[in-house]
Amino acid sequence: MLKGDLVGLRARHEADIPVLRTELYDDVVTGSRADSRPWRPLRPDTKDPRLVGDDTDPGHVPFSVVELAGDTLIGTATMWGIDTHHRSAHIGLGLLPSARGKGYGTDVVAVLCHYGFVVRGLHRLQIETLADNFPMLRAAERNGFVREGVLRSSSWVMGEFLDEVLLGLLAEDWQGN
Ligand SMILES: CC(C)(COP(=O)(O)OP(=O)(O)OC[C@H]1O[C@@H](n2cnc3c(N)ncnc32)[C@H](O)[C@@H]1OP(=O)(O)O)[C@@H](O)C(=O)NCCC(=O)NCCS
Repeated sequence: MLKGDLVGLRARHEADIPVLRTELYDDVVTGSRADSRPWRPLRPDTKDPRLVGDDTDPGHVPFSVVELAGDTLIGTATMWGIDTHHRSAHIGLGLLPSARGKGYGTDVVAVLCHYGFVVRGLHRLQIETLADNFPMLRAAERNGFVREGVLRSSSWVMGEFLDEVLLGLLAEDWQGN
């Protein structure tokens, strides 16, 4: 398990799946804001890769996030689009509603940076988030990510086009060591 100050990132366990499904993916608004694909209902036995976590895909690393204090599941984190030529990847995360606003998201980003830069030897990490996702923007910037641009009206979310912000962090600018 990868450990930060508050959170641990480990493999997806079978028991995590119903919790993540109910708390994150069945919520139409959270699902629509956090996933670029359109929300749709899923049968309980569907092997949705967002939930099950395919750990054979070299370009995509799914984690479950636990609170270190109680070893309880609090969300998901992903490193995706890993490009071993350009040594870059994207990161994303989603916390259960009860776990938000407590500093965990900032710590998850820190642990993902450690995984990307130290464990995987990457050179650049990138985050895309909706321009009104203030907690995500702040969690990224607290870890040194820099706003690199706005993708205007790039996301169709619940009846309207919203801007996305693109943030990047280079290994040499990372203060995590
Ligand atoms: C986005 C998310 C991962 C952030 O994690 P979090 O644990 O809630 O964030 P933190 O508690 O670490 O807070 C990060 C910063 O945002 C600030 N913040 C938190 N909630 C806020 C809000 N509603 N409005 C403005 N700022 C807020 C915090 O004060 C903190 O700033 P500080 O360090 O200067 O005090 C989490 O809220 C979440 O899972 N949201 C739903 C899914 C989602 O949007 N995922 C991202 C998709 S790209």
